[in-house]
Formats: sequence, C-alpha cells, structure tokens
Amino acid sequence: MKHESVLLNECIENLNIKPNGIYVDATLGGAGHSLEIVKRLSSGLLVGFDQDEFAIQYATNRLKDYNNFKIVKSNFRNLTEELSKLGINKIDGILFDLGLSSFQIDDRKRGFSYLNNYELDMRMDQDLEVSAKDILNNYSLEDLTRIFRDYGEEKNAYQIARKIVDRRPITMTSELVKITDEVNYKVKGHSAKRVFQALRIEVNEELDVLHEALAQLNDLLNPGGRIVIITFHSLEDRIVKHYFKENSEVEIIKGMPIAIEPKPNYKVITKKPILPTDEEMKHNSRSRSAKLRVAEKI
Ligand SMILES: C[S@@+](CC[C@H](N)C(=O)[O-])C[C@H]1O[C@@H](n2cnc3c(N)ncnc32)[C@H](O)[C@@H]1O
Repeated sequence: MKHESVLLNECIENLNIKPNGIYVDATLGGAGHSLEIVKRLSSGLLVGFDQDEFAIQYATNRLKDYNNFKIVKSNFRNLTEELSKLGINKIDGILFDLGLSSFQIDDRKRGFSYLNNYELDMRMDQDLEVSAKDILNNYSLEDLTRIFRDYGEEKNAYQIARKIVDRRPITMTSELVKITDEVNYKVKGHSAKRVFQALRIEVNEELDVLHEALAQLNDLLNPGGRIVIITFHSLEDRIVKHYFKENSEVEIIKGMPIAIEPKPNYKVITKKPILPTDEEMKHNSRSRSAKLRVAEKI
C-alpha cells in the first residue's frame, strides 16, 4: 500500500524553503511532501499535523532519519493553539494537501469507498464521535437533502434522502450504493460518488475546518511566507480562491488618487491554479481533480 504525493515538485518549489525557516505541513498523510521539506532544512523545523492516528504512525516512521521535525496529532483547525504549545508563533510557510490519503480510501474498514462493502464510518479522526452511519440514521430528511445538495452537488438529493429515511437503519456502504444506483441509474459516472463526498465532508466538517485554518494564517506567517494549498473539489477550491482574493486586493475608493486601507495581506502567486501534468494524471489517477494555489504574505 502506497500513497503517491500529488504535485510534489510544484509544492516544494512554491514553498520557497529557507534552510533555517519554520514550516508546517498541515496534512502529513504519508509524509511524501514532508520528507522533501525536511531534506531542505538545516537549522529550520517542520511541524506536521494529521488527525488520523495511522497517518501519524506512518509519517513518524517515514521521517525517522531526520531530527528537524515535530509531529502533532490534531485537526489543523487548532493550528495556532498547537503551534503555541511548541513555543512557535510565527512560521515561514504552510502546505495543505487536502482530503483523503490513499491509505484512508483503500482501507475498506474506514468506510470511505463506494467500491468496498463495509460499515459507513468515514471519520478521518478515529476519536470523532459521529460517523457517516450516525448521520444517515439520525438526520432529518431535510438535513440529508441539504448536505447531499450542498456538499455533493447531487441533483437527486431529495430522492436519495427520501429512500434512506424510508429504509433506515442503513449501516453498510453497499446499502447506500443500492439506493444511489436506484435513483441515479441514468447519471454518468458512479451513482454514489457525490453522496459519499457529501457525507465525508459532513462527518469531518471539512469546509468549516478549512475556513477556520485559513483565518489563522495572516497572523502566523512571516512576510515572504507562503501558503501552498492543493484542493480536490470545487467547494474547497472556491473557499481558497475567495480567501486569497479577499486578502489580496487593495480597495480603490472612487475619486481617490491612491489606494487606501485595507492593505492587502497577500500577493497571489498563482493567478490560475497549477494543475498536474498529463503524465502525472496518467500515472496517479487521484491527482486528476487536484488544483494548487499559492499566495505569499506581504
Ligand atoms: C491527501 S493526504 C496528504 C498526503 C501527503 N501530503 C503525502 O504526500 O503523503 C491528507 C491527509 O490530511 C489529513 N487531514 C485531512 N484533513 C485534516 C484536518 N482538518 N486536520 C488534520 N489532518 C487532516 C488526512 O487524515 C490525511 O492523512
């Protein structure tokens, strides 16, 4: 089992690593990106975050030949608080490679994949209390419809939610796939793709934690420090794009000769997102939906 890092060289180049700087990998996973960062540090430090116990163990082992890193088992929504426990209040760059690792997708017991039959779990952090199964069996018809529509962009959200409510309890991935097959029999691609994405986002509060983490970066970054973010679906990408835009534009007041407050916090390095090459997409299918955006603290 292996996790192939997405846009590896592009991320490392864009982090502009200084050998004595402090860097954060907010999503350690298989430590593919982290390994390339620690190799480039001398007196600097890498702090790696992950909320998944397995990722923490795997990454710790993969980085064991280096001593310029610290690993934190926590959600990256706790970035500032966890860094301050390590005595760190400024950083020189941060990387987010959002979403799931291949380890999580391929481990059928985690219940992330519609291709395997197992209990519907989908918690990235094994200590979370609510799993996908709990959501399916306890949310109202309206709430299920909303999450399938808003987080999965699922056109048949109501019909799917209706069948779930009628057939509860739903515990296995195959039971949910049976329902999406029945409703989405005319839809291109896998019938369950959007519903599984929606559930995963809801279980792990993926959009909320991204908003929360981004809101901390302006205070944390040193001038020249870079934010490097890979997203894997349009909802995440939209959040990053808007955050960069809001924090990088100088408001010009009509009739004023010069730009006045608010001063921009960032310079956006990628006017358009960087995408994987055809070669990478062929070699690593998980990279197909990846988009990389970069901004630099002014
Ligand atoms: C795509 S993988 C990262 C792969 C890594 N860059 C590599 O090259 O091996 C994403 C990882 O981030 C973790 N993760 C996702 N959201 C997180 C969050 N909010 N807080 C902490 N870890 C998170 C997941 O558990 C997963 O291990």
